[in-house]
Amino acid sequence: MKLRTIVIGILLTAPAHSFAADTAALTPAGRWTAPMIGNAPTPPMGWSSWNAFRTEVDEDKVMGAAQKLVDSGLAKLGYRYVNIDDGWWLKRRKTDGRMIIRTPIFPSAKAKGKGETSFRPFTDRLHKMGLKAGIYSDAGYNACSQAYDLHSPNLPEGDTAERQVGLHGNVDKDIALYFKEWGFDYIKVDACGLNVYGADREIVKTYNYKPFPPLIDSNYIGRTDVAEVRKIYKDIGTAIAKYNPDGDYIYSICNWGTADVRSWGNEVGNLWRTSGDITPSWTRMLHTFDSASTRALYARPGAWNDPDMLFIGHGDFDQNHLTEARSHFSLWAMINAPLIIGYDLRNAPKSLLDIWGNADLIRVNQDSGGHQAVLAYDSDDVQIFVKTLADSNTKAVAIFNRGLLKADVTLIASHLKMATGQEIRLKNLWSGEQSDFKDEKTFSVAPRETLVFEVTGTRELEGGTYLSEIPGRIHVAEDGVVNPTPDPVVHQMIGQWSGTRNAGERPAYTGWGGAQADVSPYREGLSIAGRGYVSGIGILSNSRMEVRNARQYKRFEASVGVNDSGVNNGQTVRFAVYGDGRKLAETTDLAYGAAAQALSADISGVEVVELVASGPDGQPVTWGEAKLVN
Ligand code: GLA
Repeated sequence: MKLRTIVIGILLTAPAHSFAADTAALTPAGRWTAPMIGNAPTPPMGWSSWNAFRTEVDEDKVMGAAQKLVDSGLAKLGYRYVNIDDGWWLKRRKTDGRMIIRTPIFPSAKAKGKGETSFRPFTDRLHKMGLKAGIYSDAGYNACSQAYDLHSPNLPEGDTAERQVGLHGNVDKDIALYFKEWGFDYIKVDACGLNVYGADREIVKTYNYKPFPPLIDSNYIGRTDVAEVRKIYKDIGTAIAKYNPDGDYIYSICNWGTADVRSWGNEVGNLWRTSGDITPSWTRMLHTFDSASTRALYARPGAWNDPDMLFIGHGDFDQNHLTEARSHFSLWAMINAPLIIGYDLRNAPKSLLDIWGNADLIRVNQDSGGHQAVLAYDSDDVQIFVKTLADSNTKAVAIFNRGLLKADVTLIASHLKMATGQEIRLKNLWSGEQSDFKDEKTFSVAPRETLVFEVTGTRELEGGTYLSEIPGRIHVAEDGVVNPTPDPVVHQMIGQWSGTRNAGERPAYTGWGGAQADVSPYREGLSIAGRGYVSGIGILSNSRMEVRNARQYKRFEASVGVNDSGVNNGQTVRFAVYGDGRKLAETTDLAYGAAAQALSADISGVEVVELVASGPDGQPVTWGEAKLVN
C-alpha cells in the first residue's frame, strides 16, 4: 500500500480540482458553525404529563409530580423541567388572539379580578421549588389532540378561530406570552398542525377546522416540504430566543423524525424527535430507540436526538417488568436521550423511583462531553454501545440483549478501544459490583436485559482520540446525502395504532446514508481497497465535518479513500483537511479501489479542524482511523 503524506508546500502548488461538488457547503467555514441554542448543555431531564395522563392533565397532577421530584431527591439528580403537554388550553380569545387557559383544570391560572388567565402563579410556584416549567404548542393552527384525542374532555372550545390554539400566525404573540409573561423555560412544539389538517380530511370537515395544506407527509419524504417545515421551526426558534434574552430556555422540536429533521434539528432546536410516539410496548421502545441510536454524529452538547419520553412504569415497563424498565432507562441514558419521566409520580413505587434515580446512569447521560454512545457491535439480538465520557480514560458500555433468549456476550478490549494485555476495570452501574479483565470477558445477559458498566483502563490510543470516540465534538455541516431516504435499520413493530389491520407500517425516518462512527454511511464495514478499519468515520463524498480541536491536540491523522461498499465508476474523490479555514493537507484524486492515502496535518493551536471530501454524489468514503493526537 502506498501511503503519501501531503504537506502544505505541495498543496499550494497543486492544481485546483474542478469537482462540481466544490459548492458553498464544502467551503471551509474556518470556525465551528453549529449554533449553541438555549440552555441544554446536557440532555434535558424532567417530567411530562403526556405519557402519564394524555390530555387528562390538571394542576394537582402536575404539582404532585413536581413535589415528588423534590421530595424523592430526583430533582437534585437533575430532573428539573416539569412540562405540561397537550390539554392545557381552552381557546384563543376572539378579541385579541390571546391564549386562554382551561382554568377548571388549572385553577391557579384564574388571575384575580380581570377575568384574565395566566400561568404565572403556576410557574412561580415551580420556580420557588427550584424547578423549571415547560409548555406545549403546535407549529400549525391546530394540535394533535384535536385530531387524535377526540374523546378528550379537554379539547379547545369555541368556533374555528377560537380553536386555533397552535402557533401558526401567532408565533410572536404566543411565544411572548409563554416565555415573557408566563415565565416558562421550555417549549415542545408539535407538528400535527402541519400534517393532518388538509382540506380533504374528514376531521377538518367534521370539526370545521381551518384547513392547513399539509407540509409533512409522514410516509413519504418526497411529499414533504422540508425547507418550509424547517423555516417554520426556525422562525419559532427565533421568537423563542427573542423573548429569552438570558438564553435560559429549551426548544423541543416534535415532528417525529419527518421532514429530514435529522439533518437540521441540531441547527434549529435543542432536541428533535427522531420517530413517531413511543408506547409502553417493548417493540415500540426498540423502534424509537433505533431511530436515534445510530445518529451519534448528529448530536452534541446543546443538541440531542430525542427518541421520545420515558414510558417506565407502564405496560411492558411497569413494576412487574423491571428488567425491561431498566433496559429502557439504560438505553436512553447511553444515547444521551432526554430523560423525561412519564408517570404519575404521586403514586410511584420505590422500585421505579430507584430506576429513574440511578445516579450513576444519570451521570453517564449528563456527562459534559456530550458524546452519544456509538455501536461497537450490532446484531438483531445483541448490541454493544460504548460512550466516551469527558474524562477520556473513562467510558460507559451497555450490553443489550434485545431478544427473548439468554445471550452469552463476549466483550473485547477493541469494542472499548482499549489496549489489549492491560487491565480493564468495570463497575456495574445497576449492581455496583466491580470486576476486571484483560482482552475479553463473557457475560450472560438475560432476555431483554441491558448490562451497563463504567469502564476504566488504558486507551488504545494513548495521548489521542479517534474521532469516532468523540461524536460530541463533531458537527456534520454537510453529509453529502442528496436524496433523503428512510433508514431501514429501525426496528419495525406491529402497527402501534392499527395493529395488523394493514400491510405493515414503514417508518419513513430519513437519515440513511448519513455520517457514521466506525461504519460506512450504509452501516457496512469501513474498508479501503481491501483493508478494514475498526475505527473511523464513514460519510458520503461531498461532505464537510467540523471537529472541535480547541487547541488541544497537535496532529490530525487518517487513512482515507473510497469505501469498498461504494461504486466502481472510475470517478474520484479528493480529501482535504483544514485548520481554522487554512488548507493543511490534501490527497490526490482517489478512485474506487485505490489504496488509502495517509493524511497528516499539524493542528497545533487550531480551534476547528474541517474534513472535506469532494467528488461524485453519493460515494461512501472513509476517514480510516481518523484521530487527533499529540
Ligand atoms: C403527539 C406527540 C406526543 C404528544 C401528543 C399530544 O403525538 O408526538 O408526544 O405531545 O402529540 O397530543
